Amino acid sequence: MQKIIINGGHNLTGTIPISGAKNSAVALIPASILCDEETSILSVPEISDRDNLIAILKLLNAKVTIDNDTLKIDSKNIKNKSITEELSSKLRASYYFMGALLGKCKYVEIALPGGCKIGNRKIDFHLKGFKALGATITEEENKYIIKADKLVGNKIYFDFASVGATINVMLAAVKAEGTTVINNAAKEPEIVNVATYLNNMGAKIRGAGTSKITIEGVKYLHKAMVEVIPDRIEAGTYIIMGALLGQNLEITNVIKEHLTSLLSKLNDIGVKMTIKENSIIINKAEKLSPFNVTTLIYPGFPTDLAQPMTVLMTQCEGISILEETIHSNRMGQVPYLNSMGADITVRNQMAFIKGKTPLYGNNVTASDLRAGASLIIAGLIAKGTTQINEIGHILRGYEHIVEKLSNVGADIKIIEEE
Ligand code: EPU
Repeated sequence: MQKIIINGGHNLTGTIPISGAKNSAVALIPASILCDEETSILSVPEISDRDNLIAILKLLNAKVTIDNDTLKIDSKNIKNKSITEELSSKLRASYYFMGALLGKCKYVEIALPGGCKIGNRKIDFHLKGFKALGATITEEENKYIIKADKLVGNKIYFDFASVGATINVMLAAVKAEGTTVINNAAKEPEIVNVATYLNNMGAKIRGAGTSKITIEGVKYLHKAMVEVIPDRIEAGTYIIMGALLGQNLEITNVIKEHLTSLLSKLNDIGVKMTIKENSIIINKAEKLSPFNVTTLIYPGFPTDLAQPMTVLMTQCEGISILEETIHSNRMGQVPYLNSMGADITVRNQMAFIKGKTPLYGNNVTASDLRAGASLIIAGLIAKGTTQINEIGHILRGYEHIVEKLSNVGADIKIIEEE
């Protein structure tokens, strides 16, 4: 079993380059099978979610070539096979093969997706969207069978602006007959990235990034290329580390507009940053004021940064409150942070954090991806040694995290242990 070991207390100086966004890449890879020729995706992060999606592409007989961070995918000869639980349950984004295979072959057999256990992650909006396009859905034991004689565009409204449902319905609709309109669509930058990719192939998608997306079906999707956008959540995680330990720490390859809610909050509480065109230089704050955050859909404060923020809040002088409104169980890091010296109480989906408390190294476990990222931040600021178990969750989503942090002065390593 791999574990991360951190000796805390070292300042971070130098440059951390941000990789392609996990939550874009995991949708762009399945989207590729809609293409009738070979496609290329640039800046794909080397994370285990990538490898697990490639395993599904290979099951489907797609030809995949990896050249550094460029992925070439040729789906001309794909064979539509049942996606087994072993492959599907490794990550959440396996569910994008539902929309992609439905759009391409009008038939999908797929076991339930996996992913971080951060609440009851239903997929009823995805299924409602597929049905609106003319599909029928059968749920058998642990798998879905989704099929259609033909897919016909329709008007769809989501009760909640779901990222996954918006992308999945876009994938199913690009080759449908006629026009599909998604109302109350999610507006996250990752959705724009996927729409750009499909439009580069010849799809006709308008309005991605707004709450109304219109998709005019096309018959053929040609050779195309797209670059994965920089990961705003990875960037946010390192920026939070910079607020605690930075000495001219420069986070490069960022789209600052994707980080507005975080940067504005950090500015409010006294963090010193120099915001450049494509990078942010950050220095640790001498004194941090307490603050409140409520997670919201984009452009509100991202749920995926809520857990890292709880660590920052432990170092603010006073009581901070974090309210999570998107996922029902995003406090997996709290018992471990408390075991390290934090003073956090959780009621419903609100964390009340009393600071400033020193943190001490301990033996802790990553219960999910962002909980794991929080424990890394905690380990970096703690006195003594922190051991993080179950780091597979972290490696699913942060490319080369140990190398990136070592390069800027952190004392962090991965060890193999029974
Ligand atoms: N929801 C439903 N029904 C649905 C779909 C969603 O009730 O059919 C509910 C969910 O239960 C959840 C909320 O709506 O409470 C948000 O779901 P959404 O579909 O927006 O999220 P997702 O597609 O499951 C993606 C990211 C998450 C990120 C959310 C919100 C991927 C693979 N995952 O999840 O990323 O938190 O959007 O931005 O893109 C992470 O990276 O740590 C992570 C969890």
